[in-house]
Amino acid sequence: MVFFLKIGGFEVGNYTLKESGGKKHLLFDCRGCVYSSSVSDDRACRFHVIKVLQEVEADLIVLAEVYERVYNEKQVFFLSEIARLSLRFESENIWSYEHLGDEKKEDESLFGERHNSVVRIAKDLLLFDPIAAYLECIVAVKEEKQRLLQLDESKKSEVYLNTLNYLKKSLEDTEFFSGIKAMLLKLKRVPESIGLYRSFFEVQVKPSFIGSRLLFERTEKLELLDEYSVGAASVQIYSHPSKTENLYFINLPEYTLSPEKYFILSKTKEVVSSYRPGRTSLSSVAQSRKYFERIYQATIRDLAKQQNLSLTTEEVNDLSEIVARYTVGYGVLEILLRDRKITDLYLDAPIGLKPLYLVHSDFGQCQTNILYSESEAESMISKIRAMSGRPFDEAHPVLDFDLPALDTRIAVIGEPLSPDGIAFAFRLHKMTPWTLPQFIDNNYISPMGAGLLSFLIDAQSTMIVTGSRGSGKTSLMGALMLEILQNQRILVQEDTLELPAPYMKDIGFNVQRLKTSAPIGRSEDSTEVSPADALRTALRLGDSALIVGEVRSTEAKVLYEAMRVGAAGNVVMGTIHGDSAYSVWDRVVNDLEVPTTSFKATDIVVVARPIRFSGSMKRNRRVVQITEIKKQWNDDPLREGGLLDLMNYNAKKDSLELLEDNLKDSDLFTKISDLSGLSLKQIWESIRMRAESKDFLVELKNEFSVPDLLEASYTVPANNKLMLLQEKQLEEHGSVDYSEALVQWKQWVKESQLKKLVALKKRKGE
Ligand SMILES: Nc1ncnc2c1ncn2[C@@H]1O[C@H](COP(=O)(O)OP(=O)(O)OP(=O)(O)O)[C@@H](O)[C@H]1O
Ligand SMILES: [Mg+2]
Repeated sequence: MVFFLKIGGFEVGNYTLKESGGKKHLLFDCRGCVYSSSVSDDRACRFHVIKVLQEVEADLIVLAEVYERVYNEKQVFFLSEIARLSLRFESENIWSYEHLGDEKKEDESLFGERHNSVVRIAKDLLLFDPIAAYLECIVAVKEEKQRLLQLDESKKSEVYLNTLNYLKKSLEDTEFFSGIKAMLLKLKRVPESIGLYRSFFEVQVKPSFIGSRLLFERTEKLELLDEYSVGAASVQIYSHPSKTENLYFINLPEYTLSPEKYFILSKTKEVVSSYRPGRTSLSSVAQSRKYFERIYQATIRDLAKQQNLSLTTEEVNDLSEIVARYTVGYGVLEILLRDRKITDLYLDAPIGLKPLYLVHSDFGQCQTNILYSESEAESMISKIRAMSGRPFDEAHPVLDFDLPALDTRIAVIGEPLSPDGIAFAFRLHKMTPWTLPQFIDNNYISPMGAGLLSFLIDAQSTMIVTGSRGSGKTSLMGALMLEILQNQRILVQEDTLELPAPYMKDIGFNVQRLKTSAPIGRSEDSTEVSPADALRTALRLGDSALIVGEVRSTEAKVLYEAMRVGAAGNVVMGTIHGDSAYSVWDRVVNDLEVPTTSFKATDIVVVARPIRFSGSMKRNRRVVQITEIKKQWNDDPLREGGLLDLMNYNAKKDSLELLEDNLKDSDLFTKISDLSGLSLKQIWESIRMRAESKDFLVELKNEFSVPDLLEASYTVPANNKLMLLQEKQLEEHGSVDYSEALVQWKQWVKESQLKKLVALKKRKGE
């Protein structure tokens, strides 16, 4: 049976009563409700649930949307107590005139105020925020006692005090409020009420299968797609029949603590809140973390002793880890950031209303079962502010920062840019750099595309990688950097450190990094160097490949001027936000005010894009275009045929294909041919050799299941080997037989790389 309840003129969500296993289930369908479906977190939700409990009796309550919250019998009992109490106050008309004072002794003008107070406590607050009702009642009793003390006998009436005392006693006679009272006495200080509600109404949030079967009659089956663990937490991924996104369900150890442990946990948090680390210790999070955990362990042991609770060392350690996570750490996010299958995490404004969602590398966009609270967000912001030394306020509403030791870049926006308040985006970097063979393997680029780009890098071209946010520009540029010959010096300039410079140094590249200030959200007294100044310095550092992380403001002028006069003289690469070669031109010339003639110093624009295949919601990143910027045009490259596509994405074949017909119009290859002395035929042979070599690695990797073969620590030596073989042929025969070089190289890969990896795999017993 489905009921609708009218409250104050509007209908309160629909609810259903079901008997199941001898228990009465009260089920709320919260899909489409504007409030969060949580009794502890949302006052409107609490109000609705209590209101319904005034009408019906239940043993269990289920709030179901995508996930469901199941409130157990104890919790439902608490809510029913409140519901009954409010009905009782109503029937007793406790706010009526005779309960408010004695009109013979007292001034009646006091009664209005008293009436409001009693209605507020016994009616409004009781339903919306019962803990606040109780606290207000305590304060009112105290104040009234205080007031009476100062009056002479003739004017003293205890009628109102009795009413308040009656209210207070009625509340305290319930199990719920006596529990609250006990908790408050132990805690000494009134904690944030949401925390208190959570401690009483903590529920396990479950993917809604059992409930939805109960609730929606139709079997809405969730299908388990994957299951794995991340540290102490476990993750399950489900697909939902009526949702386009998958569900990412994380089970955190702190969600299933016993009440005693929960108490120790909150008490420890309270005790240790006084020794929060300052700015300096925050900058070395990893070390200070250990230090704090030791302090927490001691506190937990003390508290457990006081409470006569015996905890094993392991339990103490687990609890202290949780406390650390919520005090010096990043809370739930910390666990999520450890799941490296996640590529992005988003917390939209207003925080607390919608669950966090993420992009999973295997399952695309997923909704999680995590609600982040505003106070958690605030604490996150203050940590980031302290660590980055950058401001974040109305004048600087954007903050970009790399979280130390977590390989994650965080972007925060606030008011006035984000009118609904703070919003976060986290980008989780891959632990090792992407390589072109990996991109071939996951179909981001075709072997031919990879071969062409690798060749163009070798031919010292200038390249811009463009695409929408998250399309993989930075990753692609990182992979292209690995194609630069190891004897070249590479200068990398970035404001947020994302490119794989340290890794490249480790495997023998000569990389110099320049970190610049963020173009937005930069503080006045910052000691960081502006991108344009850094670039001028970089150019003075002499002959090097030059990589600019993201070109977004005035440094574009310096960069292009350098390219134009040939000061860079080497590979020059950068990423720019855009969606085509034309949009790059538009952005660079019209927004960043680079003269068109300078823009022509760009040889190649590579465009990446997330593609949605027909009928599928899943987005796949693809390189969709490789375009040459020709030099014979003046004002508008599109109209004057200045943009020559060399490769284009064919959606039917899901492949980036060479546009053979266009190649004859290319100026770039003629230029390369003139400079290198290679014939056009030789150029294409060289490109094909590179394409085939990369494709060969992918085939081997898949045939022998050795993913490491595509990691940079293998692909870079393999690349070096190919170049050496080519060099050797040149020395011996005066020209390169590309297919011969390839044959020799394949042999080498099998002999030295594949054998090693296969042996390693055997040893690990895989
Ligand atoms: N081909 C790919 N396949 C799967 N994941 C990818 C691929 N390319 C990039 N990624 C992942 O996608 C995320 C975004 O990549 P990246 O930072 O390179 O994008 P971007 O275009 O530079 O983004 P932004 O516009 O924010 O600078 C990263 O987590 C990265 O590891
Ligand atoms: Mg980027």
